[in-house]
Amino acid sequence: MTLKSLLLAVGLILAGGAVLAEGELSTLRPTAPIDQEAEAEPIPDVINSDMRQVRNYPDQPPLIPHKIDNYQIDLDANKCLTCHSRTAVEMSQAPMISVTHFMNREGQTLATVSPRRYFCTQCHVVQHDVKPLVVNNFVDVDSVLDFVRGQQGGGE
Ligand code: HEC
Ligand code: HEC
Repeated sequence: MTLKSLLLAVGLILAGGAVLAEGELSTLRPTAPIDQEAEAEPIPDVINSDMRQVRNYPDQPPLIPHKIDNYQIDLDANKCLTCHSRTAVEMSQAPMISVTHFMNREGQTLATVSPRRYFCTQCHVVQHDVKPLVVNNFVDVDSVLDFVRGQQGGGE
């Protein structure tokens, strides 16, 4: 890289920083100068209410409503399955993993959890009570239906 292109690159990064300062973009990095380390806000504890949460759409992997600190999920052990497997739920009273978790790529239902669904935290996540970094205008389908019905009712 020549000195000129290096200066150009640094210039672009600084210009990018200015855009961030105007609040047009949100990133994990707060608006600290590029050469300084910003003090991160402390992350509040995981929501541990044990209350199952409404899914935003039927196929959403449900959010985890409990702590999962130090739960081992690797070749040797899967802590989640000690409560959520078919045979464990009587003791744990946890919801059983659904039938899709037993299906292979061809849609065949296997006897045990499919390798595709073994690493639970690939899809299921805990939540923290924090302000979203990015604005989200998601509208639940029920609200959309209410809106449509309202329009139809009003027009007749
Ligand atoms: C000690 C038993 C136990 C372990 C271990 C456990 N869970 Fe749970 N889980 C529960 C119970 C009980 C519930 C029902 C709500 C509650 O009481 O928290 C639940 C609820 C859930 C739900 C919500 C389901 C729904 O329909 O809303 C998800 C998702 C979940 N757990 C995922 C996980 C994952 C992923 C792991 C491993 C990282 C895990 N759980 C480990 C007991 C457990
Ligand atoms: C590839 C993504 C993926 C992985 C990996 C995965 N799940 Fe799920 N899970 C989902 C989706 C999507 C749903 C909701 C639709 C469904 O039931 O298939 C779900 C539903 C669930 C439910 C609710 C079942 C019900 O009937 O309400 C539980 C509990 C659950 N998963 C636990 C687990 C556990 C424990 C693991 C790890 C062994 C795991 N999941 C791995 C995607 C995943």
